Amino acid sequence: MRTPLIAGNWKMHTTPSAAAAWMRSLLEDLDGIDVSNVELLLNVPATHLAVLAPIVAGSPVAIGAQDVSAHAEGAYTGECSAAMLLDAGATYAIVGHSERRQYHHESDALLHDKVVACHAGGLTPILCVGEVEAERESGAHETTVLRQLSGGLSGIDLSRSDDLVIAYEPVWAIGTGKTATADDAQAMGAVIRSFLKGRYGPLADGIRILYGGSMKPANAAELLAKADVDGGLIGGASLQRDQYLAIATAAPR
Ligand code: PGA
Repeated sequence: MRTPLIAGNWKMHTTPSAAAAWMRSLLEDLDGIDVSNVELLLNVPATHLAVLAPIVAGSPVAIGAQDVSAHAEGAYTGECSAAMLLDAGATYAIVGHSERRQYHHESDALLHDKVVACHAGGLTPILCVGEVEAERESGAHETTVLRQLSGGLSGIDLSRSDDLVIAYEPVWAIGTGKTATADDAQAMGAVIRSFLKGRYGPLADGIRILYGGSMKPANAAELLAKADVDGGLIGGASLQRDQYLAIATAAPR
Protein backbone atom coordinates (compact mmCIF):
# COMPACT_ATOMS: atom_id res chain seq x y z
CA MET A 1 0.00 0.00 0.00
CA ARG A 2 1.15 3.56 -0.71
CA THR A 3 1.70 5.58 2.46
CA PRO A 4 -0.45 8.72 2.18
CA LEU A 5 1.68 11.86 1.94
CA ILE A 6 0.08 14.78 3.76
CA ALA A 7 1.99 17.66 2.25
CA GLY A 8 1.41 21.24 3.31
CA ASN A 9 2.26 24.14 1.02
CA TRP A 10 2.70 27.28 3.08
CA LYS A 11 3.27 29.48 0.01
CA MET A 12 4.61 32.93 1.04
CA HIS A 13 3.23 32.96 4.56
CA THR A 14 4.81 33.20 8.03
CA THR A 15 8.32 34.22 9.08
CA PRO A 16 11.09 31.84 10.12
CA SER A 17 10.68 32.71 13.81
CA ALA A 18 6.89 32.35 13.74
CA ALA A 19 7.32 29.06 11.87
CA ALA A 20 9.69 27.76 14.53
CA ALA A 21 7.11 28.37 17.25
CA TRP A 22 4.37 26.87 15.05
CA MET A 23 6.43 23.75 14.44
CA ARG A 24 7.25 23.25 18.13
CA SER A 25 3.54 23.45 18.88
CA LEU A 26 2.73 20.99 16.10
CA LEU A 27 5.18 18.48 17.57
CA GLU A 28 3.53 18.91 20.97
CA ASP A 29 0.10 18.44 19.39
CA LEU A 30 1.36 15.25 17.73
CA ASP A 31 2.24 13.74 21.08
CA GLY A 32 -0.20 10.92 21.63
CA ILE A 33 -1.66 11.03 18.09
CA ASP A 34 -0.96 7.99 15.95
CA VAL A 35 0.27 9.21 12.58
CA SER A 36 2.20 6.05 11.75
CA ASN A 37 -0.02 5.41 8.71
CA VAL A 38 0.92 8.67 6.96
CA GLU A 39 3.98 10.69 6.00
CA LEU A 40 3.84 14.30 7.19
CA LEU A 41 5.53 17.00 5.13
CA LEU A 42 5.44 20.80 5.15
CA ASN A 43 6.76 22.69 2.14
CA VAL A 44 7.90 26.01 3.53
CA PRO A 45 9.63 29.14 2.19
CA ALA A 46 13.35 28.53 1.59
CA THR A 47 14.22 30.98 4.40
CA HIS A 48 12.52 28.67 6.91
CA LEU A 49 14.29 25.41 6.14
CA ALA A 50 17.49 25.75 8.16
CA VAL A 51 15.51 27.13 11.11
CA LEU A 52 13.02 24.26 11.09
CA ALA A 53 15.46 21.42 10.34
CA PRO A 54 16.80 21.01 13.91
CA ILE A 55 13.27 21.31 15.32
CA VAL A 56 11.83 18.49 13.20
CA ALA A 57 14.93 16.26 13.41
CA GLY A 58 13.89 12.85 14.77
CA SER A 59 10.17 13.72 14.55
CA PRO A 60 7.59 12.31 12.12
CA VAL A 61 7.52 15.65 10.26
CA ALA A 62 9.64 16.32 7.18
CA ILE A 63 10.17 19.67 5.48
CA GLY A 64 10.43 20.55 1.83
CA ALA A 65 10.90 23.47 -0.54
CA GLN A 66 8.31 25.09 -2.78
CA ASP A 67 10.57 25.49 -5.81
CA VAL A 68 14.09 24.61 -6.90
CA SER A 69 16.50 25.92 -9.49
CA ALA A 70 16.97 23.92 -12.68
CA HIS A 71 20.70 24.61 -12.32
CA ALA A 72 23.23 23.01 -9.99
CA GLU A 73 25.26 26.16 -9.34
CA GLY A 74 26.24 29.47 -10.91
CA ALA A 75 25.20 33.02 -11.70
CA TYR A 76 21.45 32.62 -11.12
CA THR A 77 20.59 35.47 -8.77
CA GLY A 78 17.78 34.67 -6.41
CA GLU A 79 17.69 30.93 -7.01
CA CYS A 80 18.38 28.01 -4.66
CA SER A 81 19.84 24.75 -5.94
CA ALA A 82 18.63 21.30 -4.90
CA ALA A 83 21.89 20.73 -3.03
CA MET A 84 21.39 23.95 -1.04
CA LEU A 85 17.82 23.04 -0.15
CA LEU A 86 18.85 19.52 0.86
CA ASP A 87 21.66 20.86 3.03
CA ALA A 88 19.20 23.27 4.66
CA GLY A 89 16.92 20.35 5.59
CA ALA A 90 14.54 19.78 2.68
CA THR A 91 13.84 16.30 1.43
CA TYR A 92 11.18 17.23 -1.16
CA ALA A 93 10.63 20.15 -3.53
CA ILE A 94 7.41 21.20 -5.20
CA VAL A 95 8.01 21.60 -8.93
CA GLY A 96 5.66 23.43 -11.28
CA HIS A 97 3.02 24.66 -8.87
CA SER A 98 0.36 26.45 -10.90
CA GLU A 99 1.32 29.75 -9.27
CA ARG A 100 4.84 29.33 -10.68
CA ARG A 101 3.49 28.27 -14.04
CA GLN A 102 1.23 31.34 -14.08
CA TYR A 103 3.27 34.13 -12.47
CA HIS A 104 6.76 32.98 -13.47
CA HIS A 105 5.83 31.49 -16.83
CA GLU A 106 7.46 28.17 -16.03
CA SER A 107 7.22 25.83 -19.01
CA ASP A 108 7.04 22.05 -19.06
CA ALA A 109 10.59 22.03 -20.49
CA LEU A 110 11.90 24.07 -17.54
CA LEU A 111 10.00 21.88 -15.08
CA HIS A 112 11.56 18.82 -16.67
CA ASP A 113 14.98 20.34 -15.93
CA LYS A 114 13.89 21.02 -12.35
CA VAL A 115 12.88 17.36 -11.93
CA VAL A 116 16.33 16.36 -13.22
CA ALA A 117 17.93 18.87 -10.81
CA CYS A 118 15.99 17.41 -7.88
CA HIS A 119 17.15 13.90 -8.69
CA ALA A 120 20.75 15.00 -9.17
CA GLY A 121 20.69 16.97 -5.91
CA GLY A 122 18.97 14.37 -3.73
CA LEU A 123 15.46 15.85 -3.44
CA THR A 124 12.19 14.14 -4.30
CA PRO A 125 10.21 16.28 -6.76
CA ILE A 126 6.48 16.77 -6.29
CA LEU A 127 5.51 17.58 -9.87
CA CYS A 128 2.26 19.55 -10.02
CA VAL A 129 -0.16 19.24 -12.91
CA GLY A 130 -3.69 20.51 -13.39
CA GLU A 131 -6.06 22.22 -15.77
CA VAL A 132 -7.53 25.72 -15.63
CA GLU A 133 -11.28 26.19 -15.43
CA ALA A 134 -11.81 26.76 -19.17
CA GLU A 135 -10.00 23.49 -19.93
CA ARG A 136 -12.22 21.61 -17.48
CA GLU A 137 -15.34 23.18 -18.97
CA SER A 138 -14.34 22.35 -22.55
CA GLY A 139 -13.42 18.79 -21.59
CA ALA A 140 -9.70 19.32 -22.28
CA HIS A 141 -8.59 18.61 -18.68
CA GLU A 142 -7.14 15.16 -19.36
CA THR A 143 -5.28 16.33 -22.46
CA THR A 144 -3.75 19.19 -20.47
CA VAL A 145 -2.61 16.99 -17.62
CA LEU A 146 -1.18 14.36 -19.98
CA ARG A 147 0.72 17.07 -21.87
CA GLN A 148 2.15 18.42 -18.59
CA LEU A 149 3.16 14.90 -17.51
CA SER A 150 4.83 13.96 -20.77
CA GLY A 151 6.67 17.29 -20.97
CA GLY A 152 7.77 17.29 -17.34
CA LEU A 153 8.82 13.64 -17.27
CA SER A 154 10.26 13.31 -20.75
CA GLY A 155 13.29 11.01 -20.58
CA ILE A 156 13.19 10.87 -16.77
CA ASP A 157 14.09 7.39 -15.55
CA LEU A 158 13.19 6.15 -12.10
CA SER A 159 14.82 3.41 -10.10
CA ARG A 160 12.42 3.67 -7.14
CA SER A 161 8.78 4.69 -7.00
CA ASP A 162 9.57 6.94 -4.01
CA ASP A 163 11.69 9.16 -6.26
CA LEU A 164 8.66 10.89 -7.76
CA VAL A 165 5.39 12.31 -6.45
CA ILE A 166 2.69 13.77 -8.70
CA ALA A 167 0.21 16.36 -7.40
CA TYR A 168 -2.99 16.83 -9.34
CA GLU A 169 -4.18 20.35 -8.59
CA PRO A 170 -7.03 21.68 -10.72
CA VAL A 171 -6.15 25.38 -10.89
CA TRP A 172 -9.77 26.46 -10.40
CA ALA A 173 -9.83 24.67 -7.04
CA ILE A 174 -6.71 26.29 -5.56
CA GLY A 175 -7.47 28.79 -2.81
CA THR A 176 -11.02 29.20 -4.09
CA GLY A 177 -12.91 26.96 -1.70
CA LYS A 178 -14.11 24.97 -4.74
CA THR A 179 -12.94 21.38 -4.55
CA ALA A 180 -13.01 18.77 -7.27
CA THR A 181 -15.44 16.05 -6.27
CA ALA A 182 -13.78 12.96 -4.89
CA ASP A 183 -14.93 11.13 -8.03
CA ASP A 184 -13.33 13.75 -10.30
CA ALA A 185 -10.10 13.60 -8.28
CA GLN A 186 -10.13 9.81 -8.57
CA ALA A 187 -10.88 9.92 -12.31
CA MET A 188 -7.84 12.11 -12.91
CA GLY A 189 -5.78 10.03 -10.48
CA ALA A 190 -6.55 6.98 -12.62
CA VAL A 191 -5.57 8.83 -15.81
CA ILE A 192 -2.27 9.83 -14.20
CA ARG A 193 -1.65 6.28 -12.90
CA SER A 194 -2.22 4.86 -16.35
CA PHE A 195 0.23 7.35 -17.87
CA LEU A 196 2.79 6.38 -15.20
CA LYS A 197 2.25 2.66 -15.88
CA GLY A 198 2.94 3.23 -19.55
CA ARG A 199 6.11 5.06 -18.64
CA TYR A 200 7.41 3.20 -15.59
CA GLY A 201 5.68 -0.20 -15.63
CA PRO A 202 5.21 -1.84 -12.21
CA LEU A 203 7.04 1.02 -10.43
CA ALA A 204 3.98 3.15 -11.15
CA ASP A 205 2.00 1.21 -8.54
CA GLY A 206 4.16 2.76 -5.83
CA ILE A 207 4.22 6.36 -7.08
CA ARG A 208 2.08 8.65 -4.95
CA ILE A 209 -0.50 10.87 -6.62
CA LEU A 210 -1.71 13.71 -4.41
CA TYR A 211 -4.83 15.81 -4.79
CA GLY A 212 -4.59 19.53 -4.10
CA GLY A 213 -7.10 22.36 -4.24
CA SER A 214 -9.09 23.45 -1.19
CA MET A 215 -8.50 20.21 0.69
CA LYS A 216 -9.99 20.71 4.15
CA PRO A 217 -10.90 18.56 7.17
CA ALA A 218 -14.47 18.44 5.84
CA ASN A 219 -13.57 16.86 2.49
CA ALA A 220 -10.28 15.10 3.25
CA ALA A 221 -11.61 11.71 4.32
CA GLU A 222 -13.67 11.30 1.16
CA LEU A 223 -10.82 12.39 -1.11
CA LEU A 224 -8.15 10.33 0.68
CA ALA A 225 -10.34 7.21 0.57
CA LYS A 226 -10.06 7.11 -3.23
CA ALA A 227 -7.76 4.47 -4.72
CA ASP A 228 -5.62 6.92 -6.68
CA VAL A 229 -5.56 9.78 -4.19
CA ASP A 230 -2.47 8.99 -2.12
CA GLY A 231 -2.36 12.15 -0.09
CA GLY A 232 -2.89 15.87 -0.36
CA LEU A 233 -1.07 19.04 -1.27
CA ILE A 234 -2.70 21.43 1.13
CA GLY A 235 -2.35 25.19 0.99
CA GLY A 236 -4.49 27.34 3.30
CA ALA A 237 -5.49 24.56 5.69
CA SER A 238 -1.86 23.54 6.28
CA LEU A 239 -1.18 26.84 8.05
CA GLN A 240 -3.70 25.93 10.75
CA ARG A 241 -2.29 23.20 12.97
CA ASP A 242 -5.69 21.81 13.93
CA GLN A 243 -6.81 21.62 10.30
CA TYR A 244 -3.55 20.08 9.11
CA LEU A 245 -3.76 17.41 11.82
CA ALA A 246 -7.44 16.78 11.13
CA ILE A 247 -6.57 16.12 7.46
CA ALA A 248 -3.66 13.86 8.44
CA THR A 249 -5.82 11.79 10.74
CA ALA A 250 -8.55 11.53 8.10
CA ALA A 251 -6.27 9.34 5.94
CA PRO A 252 -7.23 5.68 5.71
CA ARG A 253 -5.42 3.22 7.97
P1 PGA B 1 -5.28 25.44 -1.24
O1 PGA B 1 -3.89 25.40 -2.04
O2 PGA B 1 -5.34 24.20 -0.40
O3 PGA B 1 -5.22 26.70 -0.43
O4 PGA B 1 -6.37 25.46 -2.26
C1 PGA B 1 -3.39 24.20 -2.57
C2 PGA B 1 -2.09 24.46 -3.27
O5 PGA B 1 -1.94 25.52 -3.89
O6 PGA B 1 -1.16 23.63 -3.24
